[in-house]
Amino acid sequence: MKEFKDLLQSADWKSEKHVPVIDVAAPFKEGEFGKVTVSVGKEIAHPNTTAHHIAWIEVYFQADGDKFPYQVGRADFPAHGASTDGPDSSGIYTHPEITCAFKTDKSGTVLAKSYCNIHGLWVNSLQIKF
Ligand SMILES: [Fe+2]
Repeated sequence: MKEFKDLLQSADWKSEKHVPVIDVAAPFKEGEFGKVTVSVGKEIAHPNTTAHHIAWIEVYFQADGDKFPYQVGRADFPAHGASTDGPDSSGIYTHPEITCAFKTDKSGTVLAKSYCNIHGLWVNSLQIKF
């Protein structure tokens, strides 16, 4: 039986354009919101066309010692050039990037998942220190 976890693909983001890249945009400090930015195509651009694009990114945080992760963000990227004139005709394209701001008083792991409409699900993670 195929399991959902078997569909999650991972690789080095510097050589695989689908992998979500996680960057700390603002450090996590006591009582303040830290920020992480997750994007697809940082090193190698992913196509962004009506036929082939990144549809969404989800971001989670799992504090060290916690059993489950918490979702801290999600973004859909719905514009990929389509219009009444046909595919790739509007000139409007959303870029697959999301910045999540959240507080934590624990170190932990940021986990990101992205979805390409042709090449499926991709994951990455980054340990952050509080
Ligand atoms: Fe793709």
